[in-house]
Order: sequence, then structure tokens, then C-alpha cells
Amino acid sequence: MIKAENLNKTYVMNKKVKVKALDDISFTIKEGSTIAIVGPSGSGKSTMLNILGGLDTEYKGSLLVDGKDIKDYDTNYYRRNIVGTIFQQFNLVSSLTVAENILLPITFGKQLGKGRVNDRLEYLLGKLGLKERADHKPTELSGGQSQRVAIARALIAKPKIILADEPTGNLDSKTGGEIVDLLFELNKEEGTTLIIVTHDPELFNNVDRKIHLRDGKIIQE
Ligand SMILES: Nc1ncnc2c1ncn2[C@@H]1O[C@H](COP(=O)(O)OP(=O)(O)O)[C@@H](O)[C@H]1O
Ligand SMILES: [Mg+2]
Repeated sequence: MIKAENLNKTYVMNKKVKVKALDDISFTIKEGSTIAIVGPSGSGKSTMLNILGGLDTEYKGSLLVDGKDIKDYDTNYYRRNIVGTIFQQFNLVSSLTVAENILLPITFGKQLGKGRVNDRLEYLLGKLGLKERADHKPTELSGGQSQRVAIARALIAKPKIILADEPTGNLDSKTGGEIVDLLFELNKEEGTTLIIVTHDPELFNNVDRKIHLRDGKIIQE
């Protein structure tokens, strides 16, 4: 379970101009549920996701995951084993193969034995239709394939929470629809909490709950 209490985030530019990106937000998210974060551009969606993902630690308020403040987790452990993150731009490493990209989060970890890592990799390559692409470089992939690699990378270490920032934003509607189906299927199969920032009706109409943001506040819960 995720419990956020009085989250506040202010960006300070040039030491003078302040932007209140999150304005005293509190919410809880049940384990295994699917959540869409929706709202106009600039409403704080990415800011909220970056904080949940442990990428931004400069905020006020408290954020507990399974009863423990996320600042008390080992940073690398939190970013690899507690959360997995998917971005609109895929963010694959172009010099690495598909398989190497997927394995990135556990390359330095020791949480899974080598045999189990290989089993997990094979399972995800199959599940995401990437078996024939394992040794290809990202430049040889379509957008949909690239996003599937990013999903496999987010899932390899079996995180409890998947965070996705407009995961279908760079895909055509058919490919986007397939990615949506896949995310929900994986949520069901693995019990992973799914938190998605999206403008895509196919995504936000299928979630358990929507969190609407406007000007850094939750407007309708
Ligand atoms: N790095 C930054 N520096 C200054 N202001 C920022 C920065 N990132 C975001 N903001 C501002 O914070 C507000 C929320 O941004 P963001 O979380 O990216 O919104 P959204 O993802 O909903 O479009 C916006 O007003 C945006 O301009
Ligand atoms: Mg954004």
C-alpha cells in the first residue's frame, strides 16, 4: 500500500520564481490496484510520478510504501525492486541489445540467482513477443516493440509498483491499445500495482480509480 500525506513540491527557478507543482496532496493506493493520474498539462502529474519513483526526493510531506518512508529504503533497491518505471520516450540504451536493456535493472543487483534471472528474461521475452528480437539493437525496433522492451525492463526485477508516464503517448492507437492490454494483463497476473499518467481514454476508462490533478491539487476523488 502507498500512503501519501501532505505532499508539497515547489520548483524554484533562478532562486526567485517559484512554481507550486504539488499543493498539499494526500492519498492512499491499494496494493494490486490500477490508477490513472489525469489532468491538464502542467497540473503536476509527472512531478507526482517522479516522487513516487524515487527520482525526486526534494519534496515536503511523507510518502510511505508498505508502511516505510521511501526515503528509508536503499535508493537502488527502491528503484529496482519496489518500483519499475516506463516513460513515453522508451528511454532504451541504444548501444545495448534488447536482452541487455531488459536486464539493466538487475545487472548490479543480487536479488535473483542467475538461473532465475534467465527464466524471468525468457518468460518476459515470450510474454511481450520479443523472443526473435533479443539480440537486436533498439534502432532496429518499431515504437511498439521499443515500448514492450521498456515494459520488460520495468518488470524484470518483479517490482511491486509499475509507474508509467504516458506510455502510449508516442504510439499509434492500435499499438497503444496492445500495450494497454498488456499492462492490464500483467497487473492481473503479477498483482503489480499500476499507476499510469495518461490522456488515453482506453487507459483511463479501464482503471480501478482516477486521480484528477489540477494546479497541483486533487480535484475529484
Ligand atoms: N524542472 C522544473 N523546473 C521548474 N518548474 C517545473 C519543472 N518541472 C515541472 N515544472 C512546473 O511544475 C508544474 C507541474 O509540472 P509537471 O509535473 O511536469 O506537469 P504535468 O506532467 O501534469 O504536465 C508546471 O507548472 C511545470 O511548468
Ligand atoms: Mg508530464
